[in-house]
Amino acid sequence: MRVLITGAFGQLGFALYDALSKNDQYEILRTGRSIPYGQEGIALDIQNQVYLKEVVHSTRPDIIINLAAMTNVDACERNPELAGEINVAGLQHICDSFSGKIIHLSTDYVFNGKCGPYTEEDQVCPISTYGKTKLASERILLDNDVNNLVIRGNVLYDNSPHTKASFLNWVLSSLKGNQEINVVEDQINNPTWTRSMADIIELSITNDLSGIIHWGDADHINRYDFAIKIAEKFSLDASLIKPILTEDLKQTAPRPLQSGLVTTKLVKILDVVPPSINDCLDEITQL
Ligand SMILES: NC(=O)c1ccc[n+]([C@@H]2O[C@H](COP(=O)([O-])OP(=O)(O)OC[C@H]3O[C@@H](n4cnc5c(N)ncnc54)[C@H](OP(=O)(O)O)[C@@H]3O)[C@@H](O)[C@H]2O)c1
Repeated sequence: MRVLITGAFGQLGFALYDALSKNDQYEILRTGRSIPYGQEGIALDIQNQVYLKEVVHSTRPDIIINLAAMTNVDACERNPELAGEINVAGLQHICDSFSGKIIHLSTDYVFNGKCGPYTEEDQVCPISTYGKTKLASERILLDNDVNNLVIRGNVLYDNSPHTKASFLNWVLSSLKGNQEINVVEDQINNPTWTRSMADIIELSITNDLSGIIHWGDADHINRYDFAIKIAEKFSLDASLIKPILTEDLKQTAPRPLQSGLVTTKLVKILDVVPPSINDCLDEITQL
């Protein structure tokens, strides 16, 4: 099966490549806005509809996994036009260029964060530009073909050197540099290791899932407590981590506070167990 991945050189892209390349039934075509030094792939900007069509036509994938997105939530708020061009129009271009199955990553930011964790049936109500663009993309994808799949995730983390914006890497590099950090104690999610999400994407392919599904790891925890766990697992100085409230950070985009994703539906369908943060961090320390 030929799988084309967009945004393949981002945080989740590397984990997904690792997961799929263990199985030789997949021929993986990695595409990215730019190809990092030493990596192999096809340069593909999903804003470029003409070139996107050419790439799809010449590579003839069986399935496309769209990881390409403008993921910086504050940057989306400052530049909603660009966020719309990448997160919404970009996905529309993929739908217009390809008639096979598309798996698309979305987010718990489609909810307002007043009463999470959320199930797939809960009312969406995004409060940021990022969330609004991701919700619009979900609707385009499922209106295009009901066999497509939206996987919503939240707080993906990784310790890959390729990752630009991982919470785990930020905490580790700050504490290793003896730098104090302020971490919010009023945002609750179920942080999810990219390997866990990548495994679920692969299972979604083999089980031909469609519609909307939620995936997140087992522990619902606030960001401050998560940072403390990271410090303890990596034997770093947890006293450098100071709790702060989201409103005191004065970020450009509002954040859902009581959020996170309920995974009961997927647990039932796939007979899987979400891993705990402790187990994931233990494995990461062994890498
Ligand atoms: N990170 C999370 O906590 C989280 C949570 C829920 C859902 N998700 C979703 O999961 C997916 C993957 O996220 P991630 O964590 O891997 O984020 P990421 O590390 O920011 O990766 C996104 C990738 O998309 C690429 N990209 C941006 N604009 C593009 C364009 N116009 N054409 C082609 N590629 C483009 C980026 O390339 P550049 O490096 O050139 O910008 C980057 O490689 C996204 O859809 C995101 O919304 C993420």
